[in-house]
Amino acid sequence: MNRFDLWAEQMSVDPLPTLARMRAEAPLVRLHNPNQDAPEWHVTRYADVVALLRDPRFSKDKRKLSDEARGRYFRVTEFDGLDKHMLFADPPEHTRLRSLVAKAFTPRRIADLRPSVEKATERLLDEVAEHTEVDLLDALAFRLPITVLAELIGIPVTDQDRFREWTGILVAPADFDQLRRMVIELEEYLGQFLAMRRRHPGDDLTSALLAAEQDGDRLSPVELMSMTFLLVAAGFETTGNVIGNGVWALLRHPEQLRRLRGEPELIGSAIEEILRWCPSVKNTTGVFPLTDVEFLDTVIPAEEMVIGSILSAHHDPEAFDRPELFDIARTPNKHLAFGLGTHFCLGSSLARVEASVAVGAVVRRFPALRCAADPDALAWKDGVFIRGLERLPVEVR
Ligand code: HEM
Repeated sequence: MNRFDLWAEQMSVDPLPTLARMRAEAPLVRLHNPNQDAPEWHVTRYADVVALLRDPRFSKDKRKLSDEARGRYFRVTEFDGLDKHMLFADPPEHTRLRSLVAKAFTPRRIADLRPSVEKATERLLDEVAEHTEVDLLDALAFRLPITVLAELIGIPVTDQDRFREWTGILVAPADFDQLRRMVIELEEYLGQFLAMRRRHPGDDLTSALLAAEQDGDRLSPVELMSMTFLLVAAGFETTGNVIGNGVWALLRHPEQLRRLRGEPELIGSAIEEILRWCPSVKNTTGVFPLTDVEFLDTVIPAEEMVIGSILSAHHDPEAFDRPELFDIARTPNKHLAFGLGTHFCLGSSLARVEASVAVGAVVRRFPALRCAADPDALAWKDGVFIRGLERLPVEVR
């Protein structure tokens, strides 16, 4: 029997009391994941999550695991053609992949996307303005990142509906078969798309990735496909939920919403506080010691998965002054919403642009904005990594 039931339904509704108990009573704890029938270690204090993310003894590369451990934690072997990417690689392989990608994913390219983000946001909000009540997740929060990702990658406008459908399944598959069919279709589509871009380069990220070269080294076709898949998988639900969680947090704190209306220049720090108070990625992806490792005075056996709780770290009173307070002007605010160290989020600046443009525009355009349901009674998704609402019904006039 687990001492802390992280898999209980209540954890998606109100996770903070359990996380506070874990920080106080068992900041490093071994639990049994009933869904995978496997042990999992959880780290909940801020300083310890930082130490975990900085510790090179923990690997993210599942190819280094024994067949037995890999089978236990990763049932989905069908994704092999799409997961040769940097999030599942350790240095020096990670360094190689990330530096090739960094050549294409430049700050300039992200800055150039801002006008499109603004235009797409205004267009989506024009549609919202025609209604009295909408689900803001469906109408804006998830539409914006997928439009931006499609433009970044260079997916032709005519294919964007299919692309949207695939990402929808990726995020919330009806069942495993649907997910597998989607992955096969997506793999086939990406294969053809990359071949087309090879023949007819454009000015998108994909063309830049195809051309990226360092010391005579390039991304292989499988690596390119995996990289494109990673961008979609890592950049879609994460960003959508920051927009959703952000508007929800503001609606739950009317005095902070009023303050942001009066001082729109606070939007940058408001987004940082949203990322801290209600981060869309609540856990780091799992890491594995390849041999027995002593961590926080405890021996973690080889090949047992360790997870850092970003949400818990953000509510650790040792790291943040009055962490329960949602304060859009909080400073300092050294949150871990984008991870830390080797795997620090590649897309953080793009995510910040999207979130500040979207949340800023909602606040500016809809002075009568209110939640169309009790904000404390809304349903949350119960995924392992993502913290986000099922729906966010709002009245805009
Ligand atoms: C607010 C939105 C986002 C959040 C909260 C977020 C969060 C994160 C976190 C926590 C990690 C580290 C994962 C770990 O260590 O286990 C990560 C990695 C990554 N993110 Fe994001 N992300 C966001 C948006 C994006 C976007 C828009 C993109 C790309 C278009 C992106 C691309 C990536 C990539 C490629 C990695 C892997 C980096 C590496 O392994 O070196 N993310 N992200």
